[in-house]
Amino acid sequence: MSDFVPNPFRPGAGRVPPELAGRGELLEAFTRMLQQVGASGEGERPWVLSGLRGVGKTVLLNEFVRRARDIGWVTVKVEASAAQPLAASLSRELAVALRRQASLSERAAAGLKQAFAALRNFRVRFDPDGAIGIEISTDVDASGIADSGDLAVDLQELLRTLAEGAGLLGIGVLLAVDELQEASVVNLSALNVALHNLGQEAFPPPIVFIGTGLPSLPAVLADATSYAERLYDYRTIGLLDAESTGAALSSPAAHNGVTWNREALRAVVRATGGYPYFVQACGKHVWDVRTGELIGMEDANIGIALARNEVDEGLYRSRLDRVTPKQRDLLRAMAVDGDGPSSITDLVARTGKRRTSDLSVSRSELIRAGHIYAPDRGYVAFTVPGMADYITRLADD
Ligand SMILES: Nc1ncnc2c1ncn2[C@@H]1O[C@H](COP(=O)(O)OP(=O)(O)O)[C@@H](O)[C@H]1O
Ligand SMILES: [Mg+2]
Repeated sequence: MSDFVPNPFRPGAGRVPPELAGRGELLEAFTRMLQQVGASGEGERPWVLSGLRGVGKTVLLNEFVRRARDIGWVTVKVEASAAQPLAASLSRELAVALRRQASLSERAAAGLKQAFAALRNFRVRFDPDGAIGIEISTDVDASGIADSGDLAVDLQELLRTLAEGAGLLGIGVLLAVDELQEASVVNLSALNVALHNLGQEAFPPPIVFIGTGLPSLPAVLADATSYAERLYDYRTIGLLDAESTGAALSSPAAHNGVTWNREALRAVVRATGGYPYFVQACGKHVWDVRTGELIGMEDANIGIALARNEVDEGLYRSRLDRVTPKQRDLLRAMAVDGDGPSSITDLVARTGKRRTSDLSVSRSELIRAGHIYAPDRGYVAFTVPGMADYITRLADD
């Protein structure tokens, strides 16, 4: 087939969408921050971006990293997880980033010598296993830097040394952590303390921190240290509005010589509810079933149905399969409120329980597993858009 055009849509966690729709303001704000740090040589207030699963946090964070790297910054990106301390994953990625940067020029290598030495000290304490893998050689004496054994102090010194080195080279440092809510309290509080202290220095070193995670993230950070509320610049990443959803679907098609009939586009936009994950799934399936260069209503309807099947199986069902019967009862009771939130008092009544405490075990288990979160005291909501709808459809069958 000579006229085969590859499918431009990209359903799936972290996959770069063909059109990063609706995030113009955030991208501009980020670019302004890069320019500000670049011009002043001083760090800026750290950011925290939170949002539901599948709204595009990871792809946005990756785009930030790409932009910072494109202008020559040292960029470090990690995904926090319960399996590995944040300090260890950070230091491993940092080793990789420093080597990459140092390989660029002798000047860069010289400017970052001190940072290498600080990292070596840091890893002795906080990543003893990983330090074996990547040997860091440096002839600089950095005794006294990042070697106190107090994580908050050492992280602060490591970051300062790194950013000062970068500053000498006329660049900055971007530290990006995805799924930040997964990090342990110990690591989160050390991070808060380190960023707080760095930000208060007379000349804050040129480092920018961005953490992304579920809507629970601001509360998780505040639990780690009380002043986290004032430390970060909090922003939420939400669903796309109809216009952006339309652009996410139509412009990748247009770039490949395919146009949408207006009604067909409107139908798919409506079906997706602006949920980026579902937008890509619908785009992909509609693309595959179309017969020519014009996407019509029939293509739209078939594509939506296929996309729904795929997302039901791949996103919703796989999550629901993993919960216990008690947790499932709670989720079913929540689904009555649609995407939420649900008040615990209502849920107690719906599940035939007597007290709030009767639900508290399932509630905290589901929160820990990332299925639900507490948007407010006494309330819970799903972390995945469309989960309620899926549960309701299951019950109807
Ligand atoms: N702004 C956007 N416009 C179009 N598609 C997007 C956008 N953001 C994310 N997507 C798509 O949505 C899906 C989920 O993105 P991801 O970054 O993994 O979400 P999250 O990290 O919030 O769970 C991916 O298929 C991605 O291509
Ligand atoms: Mg993600």
